[in-house]
Amino acid sequence: MDFSKSDKRFMRTALRLGAKGKGSVFPNPPVGAVIVKDGVIIGSGWHRKCGEMHAETFAIEDALAAGHDLRGTRMFVSLEPCCHHGKTPPCADKIISAGISAVDISCIDDCDSRVCGAGIERLKSAGIEVRTGLLDEEGRELIEHYIVQRRENRAFLSLKWASSLDGRIATKCGDSKWISGEKARRFAHMLRSEHSAVAVGFNTLIADNPLLTVRSVKSHHKPTAVIFAGKRRIPEGLALFESVARVIVVDPSPEQSRFGGSALVETLDIPINKPFWATLLKEIPRRGIGSILVEGGGGIITSALKEGLVDRIYCVISPQILGEGVSAVNDLGIGKVKDALRLDNIRRLYLGDDVMIIGRPKKS
Ligand SMILES: NC(=O)c1ccc[n+]([C@@H]2O[C@H](COP(=O)([O-])OP(=O)(O)OC[C@H]3O[C@@H](n4cnc5c(N)ncnc54)[C@H](OP(=O)(O)O)[C@@H]3O)[C@@H](O)[C@H]2O)c1
Repeated sequence: MDFSKSDKRFMRTALRLGAKGKGSVFPNPPVGAVIVKDGVIIGSGWHRKCGEMHAETFAIEDALAAGHDLRGTRMFVSLEPCCHHGKTPPCADKIISAGISAVDISCIDDCDSRVCGAGIERLKSAGIEVRTGLLDEEGRELIEHYIVQRRENRAFLSLKWASSLDGRIATKCGDSKWISGEKARRFAHMLRSEHSAVAVGFNTLIADNPLLTVRSVKSHHKPTAVIFAGKRRIPEGLALFESVARVIVVDPSPEQSRFGGSALVETLDIPINKPFWATLLKEIPRRGIGSILVEGGGGIITSALKEGLVDRIYCVISPQILGEGVSAVNDLGIGKVKDALRLDNIRRLYLGDDVMIIGRPKKS
């Protein structure tokens, strides 16, 4: 189907809006929507949280609040509208009763058997013109966390690190502030806002004393911090126990009951001295975590790659050389270049002097 430049522009706006909910909507998908009349957006919305208004309803209410008559309008929505009663009424019915004439959908919701084309059928049978596949690839990328959550029944796993040209994430003294420039660091904050949780390994916790909050980008979402203690005692007074609202300590020391600080601290007894990611990613959605962004260090990144469950890699490469230091990735048991772990679906972003490579590890 041929879509016009302005169709793509309106859908891009809907996709951008939808992305704002990426970190907070679990177990729902992130969705954005705009309503257009005479070539102008008259209402827009995005889904913020499970149980709260869906994007389509938000956009309709937005347009109605501004006094618009929605008859004859066109909606651009990033995902097929639902047609079942969940925590909120069906969006397809809301669109029909609002009098909207046409709906452009980026991708169908084939992960939820209650939707999967039925939302489109409901709209069509009410006489609404429906077109699908407008920026379909971007639409599927927006819901990539949701696709893994639904199809594999586990949390989505992203890795992010910043390394020098020679693959170091810290000097031999453990100093890593800052390898990446300001633009790449701002992007990293955006990534935090798009995940339910941000995680670091024990050595990083001690060496960097990170805050693990979303800063320098606007976001309503406050990710949970996940730390991998490996049965070691976590010293009191660490910054993140004050900066975030909630911390999950994986594999805590059995002797530790107090962590200090104002954060709500939960523990998860999954030993990290052997393969543990499969168990963690199945278990942690029960705690409301649908996606984890692991920010290092090398030990924890290596363990995730070894288990082959990484869904996305965000790697910043900075034009500097550190020589001996901490490696981004340790031994993976690869002897031949032909056996290297390769990425596909690759994108490159130029962030100041740095290059960010984004890709999906190929599954063997
Ligand atoms: N530039 C960046 O993007 C960036 C990001 C984060 C951190 N850093 C730097 O990285 C340094 C810390 O990195 P790190 O690698 O020393 O530590 P780390 O990954 O922060 O912590 C190592 C943890 O991984 C555990 N682990 C689990 N499975 C493992 C496996 N298969 N192999 C190795 N470790 C495994 C270790 O447990 P055991 O000890 O029990 O084996 C330990 O708890 C710091 O200097 C920090 O500043 C840089």
